[in-house]
Amino acid sequence: MLALGVLASGRGSNLQAVLDACTAGRIGARVVAVASNRADALALDRAVCHDVSSKAFARGAYRSKSAQEEAIVAFMREQGVELVVLAGYVPIIGRPLLEAYRDRIINVHPSLLPAFGGTLHAQAAALTYGVKVSGCTVHYVTEDVDAGPIILQQAVPVLEGDTEETLARRILDAEHEALPTAIGWIAAGRVVREGRRVRIQPECVHKPDVRIQELVRNSP
Ligand code: GRF
Repeated sequence: MLALGVLASGRGSNLQAVLDACTAGRIGARVVAVASNRADALALDRAVCHDVSSKAFARGAYRSKSAQEEAIVAFMREQGVELVVLAGYVPIIGRPLLEAYRDRIINVHPSLLPAFGGTLHAQAAALTYGVKVSGCTVHYVTEDVDAGPIILQQAVPVLEGDTEETLARRILDAEHEALPTAIGWIAAGRVVREGRRVRIQPECVHKPDVRIQELVRNSP
């Protein structure tokens, strides 16, 4: 079971999707820690409901952003976190987390990157630009905001008459599928990074012993 630490700043619907996928046994992972930069984040309440360790790390309680992140890293390590998942976490990730969890931090962003990265209003930006297709991206987190290697993207149509709210809702539904799926792939060891490109290895569909039995049965 891959131990997940989720960082979230707000309502935590993506966290909920991950918790549900873990509880249902759909992915080989479990959420062991939830942290937020906001004490009033609904995500923290969701963690409590699932008996997951949770803690708020308000920026104002620390002398610097680095000190705040170091405290988050210490909490993640205490809880045995192996993969950090950003699920609506607003602060930009800095050195302490990047160094402690290099290549082990992923994020979900509400656009098809590299379009509309680096903004908290990606859905509005997509509407304003007039694209006909948008969606979400699950990607590794690097020093460059919203520019890390892409694991999975899911497209949704932009419909006539869409508002920021209706488009955001459609993209959010896609996020709720894509984020647990990507985590499941990582947990199953199917995600291979090759520079900027990420290869998803096929699922092993045959049990080796069954194949061997078949070979033996069919051999002359
Ligand atoms: C999602 O749209 C996510 O892509 C973005 O912030 C939103 C968080 O939603 N980074 P929630 O808190 O998971 O409901």
